Amino acid sequence: MNEWWQDAVVYQVYVRSFADGDGDGTGDVAGLRSRLPYLERLGVDALWVNPWYLSPLADGGYDVADYRRIDPRFGTVEEVEALIADAHTLGIRVIADIVPNHTSTRHAWFQQALSDGPGSAARERYWFRPGRGPDGDEPPNDWFSVFGQGAWERVTEPDGSPGEWYLHLFDTSQPDLNWQHPDVRREFLDVLRFWFDRGIDGFRIDVAHGLVKDPALPDLGVTERQVLGTDNPANHPHWDRDDVHEIFREWRSLADSYDPPRTFVGEVWVDDPERLAMYRRPDELHGVFDFDFAKPGWDAGRVRAAVDTVRAAAGSSPATWVLSNHDVARHVTRFGIVTDDVEADSDQDAGYGSPNDAIPPQLHAHRAEVDVERGRRRARAMALLELALPGSAYVYQGDELGLDEVLDLPDARRDDPVFFRTEGELLGRDGCRVPLPWEPSGPSLGFGSGEAWLPQPESWAALAASAQEADPRSMLWLYRHALRLRRELTALGAGEMEWGEIPGRENVLVLRREPGFTCIVNFDDSPVPLPADSGEVVLATEEPTHDGLVAPESAAWLVK
Ligand code: NOJ
Repeated sequence: MNEWWQDAVVYQVYVRSFADGDGDGTGDVAGLRSRLPYLERLGVDALWVNPWYLSPLADGGYDVADYRRIDPRFGTVEEVEALIADAHTLGIRVIADIVPNHTSTRHAWFQQALSDGPGSAARERYWFRPGRGPDGDEPPNDWFSVFGQGAWERVTEPDGSPGEWYLHLFDTSQPDLNWQHPDVRREFLDVLRFWFDRGIDGFRIDVAHGLVKDPALPDLGVTERQVLGTDNPANHPHWDRDDVHEIFREWRSLADSYDPPRTFVGEVWVDDPERLAMYRRPDELHGVFDFDFAKPGWDAGRVRAAVDTVRAAAGSSPATWVLSNHDVARHVTRFGIVTDDVEADSDQDAGYGSPNDAIPPQLHAHRAEVDVERGRRRARAMALLELALPGSAYVYQGDELGLDEVLDLPDARRDDPVFFRTEGELLGRDGCRVPLPWEPSGPSLGFGSGEAWLPQPESWAALAASAQEADPRSMLWLYRHALRLRRELTALGAGEMEWGEIPGRENVLVLRREPGFTCIVNFDDSPVPLPADSGEVVLATEEPTHDGLVAPESAAWLVK
């Protein structure tokens, strides 16, 4: 029998933007609790909730000041316990987010490190080093922050003198922890226990490939661009180091000591499929996000190649399919990029392995035209493909409503450190974090009773959940229908698949699963015949054309 996580459909909740229960413009646990019936009706198996811990929110909560408290803007530990209980009653599991690579500068450990000064034990928990150059005013090495600019920040010592530097691979407010230090290891095991004891079913691990650093902190000797690219050189001093696996083996034995066992899914941006596979082992993480599936544009060959790459890397483990998340441009918009003079719409892999490049290059500075309706049509088809593939699938909040990336947020409202650290050269990730529209009218379109923390586009009124509820042809209904069928059809979920074909048609994918299931995706501009001997259409993203052909840019599920 399958374990639940092997074929679960997991709905990602960016809690700040999901539903606002107290009217302060920020989503919260109360809002999420009130919308659980919506998620049950949608048919998801689990939720992954982005960080909700005490935080200055300098990086949307990935800057944690206290891992055992909930930020008051989001709620309390008691409310989270009530959320877990309610979700469990509805048969929905809850996965939280753990951020072990760095804390916030507001974390008690970092504050102590600042006040205890150079050479103190408290500084050993982070990466403090004297600067280079005669006055120590040059950073200790040449590493770059993933968010742009250098990876070191100089502190002022308690006596007011310019002092040591600390490492931050992300924002200056996110100092990297020293995982060679026993306090760090002990503390995180304890934090995991704290939440497991409160019923959390598992964790998504932030920057799982980044925890261990080469303590010699050697220069990389490369330009910023190379550092941010996906081609991490072997034996990189801060990504994917062999010793990281020891940490996850310890975590796994803790998770396995619970009944039922708790689970982990890792955020691992590692290109080499063999290196990636090392995280997904029976004594390590249960899953790692297979981001390759989020990279190709709208093209049968490239999508098929991505599926094959993911499956080869996953080996005998179930894959974890991802089309979008809170770090990448929404796929409606990615699929809607009209090929222009910049690059083909498929060329989204330039440095995609870093949140900096979450938005395909064409979208920056509005260099590309986006046909959102076309993107939405293609997104419908890709959803049916994702949900037909063997393994577990993640759905990012709002994908079920067909939301598009908001590209024209006013600069004054932007919040992502990527935007600030690149001085606006990169738009950053705010455009995929705009609060959900629940109602076609009212303040913040039903997100809350007041204005939302990021403004929603007027066009989203028509996409509101309640509006889609009333329309059986909506994206919401498509997802619901697909998720119901996915539960009913034994062919779907974990297991095997093989590719079929439509003779003479190349821009089409045919995926077959036993018993008797076929998914066809027509990437072409013209209709294609149904694959022979495949039974009846049980779900289609567009009406078949009048002579029973699969419509252009559409997908269908068939069962015989
Ligand atoms: C990956 C998270 O998904 C992203 O949102 C965050 O900015 C970085 N890790 C740093 O924690």
